[in-house]
Amino acid sequence: MRILVTGGAGYIGSHTCLELLACGHELVVVDNFCNGHEEALGRVERLSGKPVTVVEGDIQDRALMTSLLREKGSEAVIHFAGLKAVGDSVSDPLSFYTNNVFGTISLLEAMRDCDVRKIVFSSSATVYGDPRWLPITENHPLRAKNPYGTTKLVIEDLLRDLYRSDSSWAIAMLRYFNPVGAHESGRIGEDPKGVPTNLMPFIAQVANGRRDELRIWGGDYPTRDGTGERDYNHVVDLAEGHVAAIEALEAGGMSEVNLGTGTAYTVLDMVRAFEEVSGRPIPYKIVERRPGDAASCFADPSLAEQRFGWRARRGLLEMCRDHWRWEQQNPDGYRDRSA
Ligand code: NAD
Ligand code: WQD
Repeated sequence: MRILVTGGAGYIGSHTCLELLACGHELVVVDNFCNGHEEALGRVERLSGKPVTVVEGDIQDRALMTSLLREKGSEAVIHFAGLKAVGDSVSDPLSFYTNNVFGTISLLEAMRDCDVRKIVFSSSATVYGDPRWLPITENHPLRAKNPYGTTKLVIEDLLRDLYRSDSSWAIAMLRYFNPVGAHESGRIGEDPKGVPTNLMPFIAQVANGRRDELRIWGGDYPTRDGTGERDYNHVVDLAEGHVAAIEALEAGGMSEVNLGTGTAYTVLDMVRAFEEVSGRPIPYKIVERRPGDAASCFADPSLAEQRFGWRARRGLLEMCRDHWRWEQQNPDGYRDRSA
């Protein structure tokens, strides 16, 4: 298929582009590089040996999105573009609603005008809010706890209404849990700007000596060892899930699907696994809980297997090993162009 990938220069987008190219799809990426890196797409081209058309632009620019869809003859869209930093969304909700919600509306209007009605949307487990039951199934109550999660929920509601109004749309909303890791080549990976807020990139930077110690937010949770537990998912598994989802859209319909492993690991599990694969000590200090954190959050992944024939295949050590390789080979992320 000819696919328009919004936000394809980002962490999950670049890994998904690599898998889409390997499956013979033709890609156009639009990205405003507010958090992604054009270098990532250059490396995707070199790794795959196939071309990617890259357009610097903003999904809020409806005229640009219309011309891209029309000129490139796109048949479907995978929509990664969005702001995702929870803390920033609390301090600046207007930017998140404008970028994520208004941007998606512009994209969808352009798709409608060009008669392109297949879309895979990057949603998030954050739409579930505090887990009422575990593992989380797709029929769990939806009630986001921060402005970022609310933008995802608003977009999901918009897509559900759109489908109800016109079932010629084919829509897959994928709710990711905790993506981590990197492609096995070590050439593409997660390159967070500033101090990482997520656990895995922070641990990797401690292992590499860029950070002194890990602060573990809370050691008194009702979990195996008192630290928070999450459903970590290898980013390449996630990418393969997108390939399966977009190909399943040929059959039409609308789906809301968890992309997770169904297995939860605690913060201390992650520390030990990373020490094992890196051979480096991860000094840490257990401090107060981070406001808004849940004790435990992990997916029931069975619907993804039923709908798309997809399940996560890569385990915790492989997630850590691949993340470590990326960190070691790219200590300055994509800014280190010599790698
Ligand atoms: P990322 O920031 O690496 O990628 C997002 C990309 O979108 C970046 O390249 C950025 O430059 C681009 N972008 C943002 N706003 C844009 C706009 N208005 N126009 C054009 N490009 C724009 O983030 P990621 O981790 O790859 O996440 C991709 C998607 O998955 C996001 O929508 C995110 O909310 C969602 N998600 C991420 C996680 C996670 O933990 N990484 C979990 C659940 C959901
Ligand atoms: C994981 C665990 C922390 C950092 C977030 C977003 C979510 C989604 C995925 C976009 C928790 C602990 C972390 C640190 C720590 N992103 N931790 N010290 O919070 O589950 O989800 O990323 O959609 O929306 O909320 O991931 O990696 O921040 O935290 O102890 O320095 O690690 O308390 O238990 P989280 P995380």
